[in-house]
Amino acid sequence: MATRLEGRFPDGFIWGSAAAAAQIEGAAAEGGKEDSIWDHFARQPLAIANGDTPAVAVDHYHRMPADVALMKELGLQSYRFSTSWARVKPGDRFVNAEGLDFYSRLVDELLEADILPWLTLYHWDLPQALQELGGWANRDTAFRFVDYAVAVHEKLGDRVRHWTTFNEPLCSSLIGYVGGEHAPGLTDPYAGLAALHHQHLAHGLATRQLRELSDDLQVGITLNLTNAVPNNPTDPVDIDAARRLDGLWNRMYLEPLLLGAYPADVLEDLREYDFERLVHDGDLETISAPIDFLGVNHYHDDNFSGHPLPEGHPPGKAPTARQGRSWFVGSEHVTSPTRGLPQTAMGWEVNPDGLRELLVRLTRTYDNLPPLYITENGAAYDDVVVDGRIDDVERWDYIRAHLWAVADAIEEGADVRGYFAWTFIDNFEWAWGYDKRFGIVHVDYETMERTPKLSALRYSQLIVATREPAPVG
Ligand code: NOJ
Repeated sequence: MATRLEGRFPDGFIWGSAAAAAQIEGAAAEGGKEDSIWDHFARQPLAIANGDTPAVAVDHYHRMPADVALMKELGLQSYRFSTSWARVKPGDRFVNAEGLDFYSRLVDELLEADILPWLTLYHWDLPQALQELGGWANRDTAFRFVDYAVAVHEKLGDRVRHWTTFNEPLCSSLIGYVGGEHAPGLTDPYAGLAALHHQHLAHGLATRQLRELSDDLQVGITLNLTNAVPNNPTDPVDIDAARRLDGLWNRMYLEPLLLGAYPADVLEDLREYDFERLVHDGDLETISAPIDFLGVNHYHDDNFSGHPLPEGHPPGKAPTARQGRSWFVGSEHVTSPTRGLPQTAMGWEVNPDGLRELLVRLTRTYDNLPPLYITENGAAYDDVVVDGRIDDVERWDYIRAHLWAVADAIEEGADVRGYFAWTFIDNFEWAWGYDKRFGIVHVDYETMERTPKLSALRYSQLIVATREPAPVG
């Protein structure tokens, strides 16, 4: 076995980094863009930490060429970005040439810099105008999504080969519509389940349409997947809590896509919501159209118990208490006791081997699993700037340890073909605003100056080293 990390990845492994439109672009009302649900949500009192908004973010809209130049300097091979529906089709009314032109220039800059563009169509920022018609709870939104995808393809399809329909639909369905902590901030279980099914449908319809438009595209989806760990592996109550959450958070997303069916045990858990009435004839066939890759976003495991937390136990992940985690689980007491592992600034427990376990489990469970890409992995820590340097040793340790875990999974048979560090640059961390920094590049929010952190420099060295012949041993 190679003893150096750089020797452990297959030829052609893609090294990238990722970001998303609403988190970095800013220019929320420029170039014809109108409100997305996140612009609107951010104006609601107490929705976002410190009253932060995505209005300016890290001003990437105006600084894009310099940002791409920095990516090139760091040696990134691919950049995963998202297009904003509300910029491409403001209010979902018409195709905004100026909005599309921004992404066209971005793609040109990337190609010029020899960086593979990896496009995501939906990273949570629905036009607010569609939300006012019910958003993803409205089946019609799935068909609107296809029209939006076609508009983006028309402009970029000649240069972009990798297309991701959705990023983390768990967050943009259940967490936004039931958990209430993400836009649109609803706490309506019926709307959440409808959003879940309609996003799947939109994925399937758009996949089919994109393939009709070009036959050489790589089309896939990115899911956030976790290991649902029973707190006490011999306690049936904890085991059942973990099964329910594995069903709701992992299998309700994986299985309609890969197996063309929703998991029977979850449908049973959801009986009182009559989920199946949402599923029309032919939907599952559309949803399970083959995909070319599965993007896996993974940050931490989830430890579940079916019992109340012991007295004095910390409430769980910071700073929003994620009370929504008990939705639909049929118990008042699905809790997330900590396992005593080190934690990031999000309160997320660090367990790199969980990523290996997840990748191997996916590989063993689904015969038709397409190639995998880690489309997000990374960590928030409270960075300190000292003499203009950010020595974010903890973040690099986190990334490095997870890369070892990916390499271990590959050795155990997982077909993982790339890794995208989340995130290229500090940015708007949704309900947590600008407090939480995940970037490998630091942003001074006063001056907008960008400074690569130690993690960026180390990542860059690793990318270079993987191009060297692998050492023997
Ligand atoms: C998942 C999301 O896709 C991304 O937008 C977010 O910033 C990271 N996780 C970190 O929470």
